[in-house]
Amino acid sequence: MCGIVGYAGREAAAPILLDGLERLEYRGYDSAGIAVVSGSRALQVKKSKGRLSELSRLVDGGKSIDGVLGIGHTRWATHGEPNDVNAHPHLSQDGKIAVVHNGIIENYVELRDFLCSKGYVFQSETDTEVVTQLLAYYYAEDNDAFSALYKVLHRVEGAYALGIICADCPEKFLAARKDAPLLVGFGEGANFIASDVTAIIKHTRDVVYMEDGEVAVITADSVDFFDAMEEPIEKEHKTIDWDVSAAEKGGYAHFMLKEIMEQPEAVRKTAFSRIRDNRVCFDDLKIDEAYVKSVSKIYIVACGSSYHVGVVGKYNLERMLRKPVEVCLASEFRYSNPLVDESCLVIVISQSGETLDTMAALREAKALGAHILSIVNVVGSSIARESHDVLYTWAGPEIAVATTKAYSTQLVLLNMLGMYFGDILGTLPGEEYESIMAELLLLPEKMERLLSNIEDIKRFASDYFNHNSVFFIGRNLDYAMGLEGSLKLKEISYIHSEAYASGELKHGTISLIENGTLVVALGTYAPLFDKAMSNVVEVKARGADVLALATEKNLAEMKKTVENVMVVPETHTVLQPSLGVVPLQLFSYYVALLRGCDIDKPRNLAKSVTVE
Ligand code: M6R
Repeated sequence: MCGIVGYAGREAAAPILLDGLERLEYRGYDSAGIAVVSGSRALQVKKSKGRLSELSRLVDGGKSIDGVLGIGHTRWATHGEPNDVNAHPHLSQDGKIAVVHNGIIENYVELRDFLCSKGYVFQSETDTEVVTQLLAYYYAEDNDAFSALYKVLHRVEGAYALGIICADCPEKFLAARKDAPLLVGFGEGANFIASDVTAIIKHTRDVVYMEDGEVAVITADSVDFFDAMEEPIEKEHKTIDWDVSAAEKGGYAHFMLKEIMEQPEAVRKTAFSRIRDNRVCFDDLKIDEAYVKSVSKIYIVACGSSYHVGVVGKYNLERMLRKPVEVCLASEFRYSNPLVDESCLVIVISQSGETLDTMAALREAKALGAHILSIVNVVGSSIARESHDVLYTWAGPEIAVATTKAYSTQLVLLNMLGMYFGDILGTLPGEEYESIMAELLLLPEKMERLLSNIEDIKRFASDYFNHNSVFFIGRNLDYAMGLEGSLKLKEISYIHSEAYASGELKHGTISLIENGTLVVALGTYAPLFDKAMSNVVEVKARGADVLALATEKNLAEMKKTVENVMVVPETHTVLQPSLGVVPLQLFSYYVALLRGCDIDKPRNLAKSVTVE
């Protein structure tokens, strides 16, 4: 959730840390801070509640702090409200050690009590300060920060990515990781740590991903890695191949709009690299035909929008494979004593590849013997590394908290998996396969067409942005897509919104429909269009304002009942949500814009959710 950056080099550290934090701010943005150690062995810690711009103002863009080694942090609060004191870095009582932390120390109360009994006085309400003071406690024993760190790691329980500087060793800093992302970047006369590569990509593409239990000692000229037993280890370097500009706004007002517009290309890259001679080819999969035939049940496990992809997947995969598919919220799956065994395939979906709930569910399923196939966007992320099989979505870096292009690429990949498995199982007739393939090849083009004409959507946003309660209704795939449309709207515009299966409304929720309630009626699922229409008529009769979504083919029919209709091109039924979701993303974007919301960094949220 939080973002960490660290630098050891020959240039002034503070501006480099601030720049890195700016790129990590999407991970958490309620407060930020930096700590820099100067040659005179003084630790300077500056932190501030609010956005990074506040901190930057406080330190004059970094100019007011000297020193060539430091750490920085942008926070998403867990323990203690967002304020200056609870912001990281935390400084030990003796002023010698500063720590930035991402994750949660679960036994912090017990450790704090222990330290209090030794005379330590705590300034903040955070779990992180416990790590800082405990480090100081052990450091005082023999003035060895490295051994103090191992002693601390043996005592703390929970998740952490840590960056640690010590006033007595101004030439190096330490890093440690367990269940929270951390990588080391190798530059020219400078080395870095970061929660993700966007923070350091302008300095280096040469990185090493740290694994759980590992520690790194970093100077300007060297990086040494150690395992949990304190033994030195060699690590494999990876080269980051995407362009720096991929993580910039490129003239758009917001990353979200840029990422919406990038969807055709992202889908093209994700899908077309896996199509040869009109067949889906997964050269990147290890599982073979015999395995696919042996699978008794498929689970799809994910959170948030990735879960919504799974809901579409359940409908489509059951249709294409005639095998049971269960879609589970990762946070529930883990504690539900799931009926998973060796005969199950568990498909894990995650943009970041770092979502803790999803990661924990993956480990649970793996321990039960299931084969784990993950669909992940961030190369080298924890979920990707712990899965038996990985299919990467080639969406490029997604910065806006509200996902758009990652959702679209996940969706297309899951459908392709359905085609691939259906073909092996013989449950997807050749004609049907070919007709999905023909439409798959046209999908990016149709998305482009859709995105080239968005004036109506802007107009509808200005008609409806003042509503306080919205229902997205639809049947089957439209219901699944409505879940995503509703989440997009609520997360960036703060309007209360719910997605409902149209047919279920009459069993209770229709009592909430009154004059002026906005209902977004989704009518793109052709097989149940007429049924969906009767539900639209029902809500209209109770005073709802209806905004509809229809395909070009059904537009005229929809228009007979609803005046305001967003239109999408027709495609194969299983692919229709890939087009239908785009106007819903744009509608949310423009509603949030008109409401003056902070679109890329909505309140209370963070891009990568690495706490439970
Ligand atoms: O990185 P992941 O796909 O695992 O993230 C899961 C959810 O946190 C994420 O989809 C979240 O719901 C998005 N902010 C929604 O736009």
